[in-house]
Amino acid sequence: MAKKKSTVQTQTAQPAEKKTAKRTAKKKPAEDKVTVNVERKRSVLFVASEANPFIATGGLADVIGSLPVSLAERGNYDVRVILPLYGTMEEGYKTHLTYLGNFNVPVAWRNQYCGLFSYKKNGVTFYFVDNEYYFKRDTLYGHYDDGERFAFFSRAALEAMRVLDYYPDIMHCHDWQTALSVVYLKTIYAGLYGYEKVRAIFTIHNIEYQGKYGKELLEDLFGLPGNVEPLLDYDGCLNLMKGAIQCADYVTTVSRTYANEIKDPFFAHGLQYIVNANTEKLTGILNGIDQKLYDPQTDTHLFANYSAKDTSGKAVCKAQLQKMLNLPERADVPVIAIISRLVSHKGLDLVKAVLEELLAEDVQVVILGKGEAYYEGYFNYVAENYSGKCKTIIAYNKDLSSKIYSGADIFLMPSKQEPCGLSQMIACRYGTIPVVRRTGGLADSITPYNDGRVSGNGFAFNNYNAHEMLYVIKDAVYTFGNKKVWSELMKTAMTTDFSWNVSAEQYEKLYDLYK
Ligand code: GLC
Repeated sequence: MAKKKSTVQTQTAQPAEKKTAKRTAKKKPAEDKVTVNVERKRSVLFVASEANPFIATGGLADVIGSLPVSLAERGNYDVRVILPLYGTMEEGYKTHLTYLGNFNVPVAWRNQYCGLFSYKKNGVTFYFVDNEYYFKRDTLYGHYDDGERFAFFSRAALEAMRVLDYYPDIMHCHDWQTALSVVYLKTIYAGLYGYEKVRAIFTIHNIEYQGKYGKELLEDLFGLPGNVEPLLDYDGCLNLMKGAIQCADYVTTVSRTYANEIKDPFFAHGLQYIVNANTEKLTGILNGIDQKLYDPQTDTHLFANYSAKDTSGKAVCKAQLQKMLNLPERADVPVIAIISRLVSHKGLDLVKAVLEELLAEDVQVVILGKGEAYYEGYFNYVAENYSGKCKTIIAYNKDLSSKIYSGADIFLMPSKQEPCGLSQMIACRYGTIPVVRRTGGLADSITPYNDGRVSGNGFAFNNYNAHEMLYVIKDAVYTFGNKKVWSELMKTAMTTDFSWNVSAEQYEKLYDLYK
């Protein structure tokens, strides 16, 4: 394993002449030692459960796949990421990992094997924690022993520091799966050599998923002594996210609006008390997107490429999409798209309440996504009854999503709660105008044209109310009829800066607080 790199180099001064050298040898004065402080690059280790392009189930993977790269490009931090090595990870990457070694990780009284691999990509070192018993499964989450699996991973991230002799200045943990890394650092690792200088930042990507377990697991599974229980105890159980909020040096969420919203019981899923008790160390930093990945000029999945300067290719994308989906090929009718996980908090109850009313208008609606059977069934049912106006595709499909982002005119995202949301930004990049509910990251990334904002890049409504949404969709449909205004809106949307530059700088400033 890597040898410890010293931050301070010492050089013995060369004697000017032999006589001096002799004297020096006798007295060994301290002045003869010249100390040169070689500034070590500060370092941040991301601890997370998924990252693009290795393994992804949602927006978290986009963030962990792109924020570290952006930070590394800025050049001020040595940026590394540690992830579980899942059995379902892309083969192409698996075969290119470098084996670093193995060690044992305590999971309470158990001693578990941990292999460590690495892979360098875009200036970032990715570490992979291998244990087939925990991670060689069909899916990433949803197993009866998720608590144990991520306790192992969280502890392995800390043990890896010792093994690598690499103690980052900042350990940046994401969501409940890595909450225990923060708790371990501040309890059983507190004051241990190397760890005492590591600062912990915890980012909440979605407060809905907290990692709740029975109290009997404290010592037996999480390996924490009884006196740590108050840190995790919440509502009669152990709440890992609560523990991380309590223990972290700083807590962030993925938009400023969401950082405020989670003080409120409607958004906090029970954690409002603990959020309110920690507001002095809470901030919101809006996610960016990988603008190179989502670029209609280069996206190879599109029927035709285009840019903000020349959007003519978008008409080709629309016509081809309509053709592919057996919808009438009409340029004058707006195509309204939903690309989403089909789950309740995405605001699909609003859509369900007024979809048929919307379909009474001269519009086409395309739905792409997978999720709860209840919504899948409903959207399939409507598509069957409105063939020629509505299409539902139950799938998670990158190729198709690019074709829909580029071929649609309006992108509907009426989330009940949306910590940040990436789809509205992606839609903008493809010149597809978002209609969003003003919540979380949707409020922070979309400037509503319907508020009379000339700089608008979309439309927004406030309340979780189906007819308020329908009213604003109709406003967008009406505006679509005005080609001049619409093409201005498209240009504004396509040129809105959704890059990571601003956010990466904000994260860096946060890390720098601990210099
Ligand atoms: C979660 C949130 C989503 C956010 C993503 C990345 O999936 O639900 O709003 O964009 O994390 O931070």
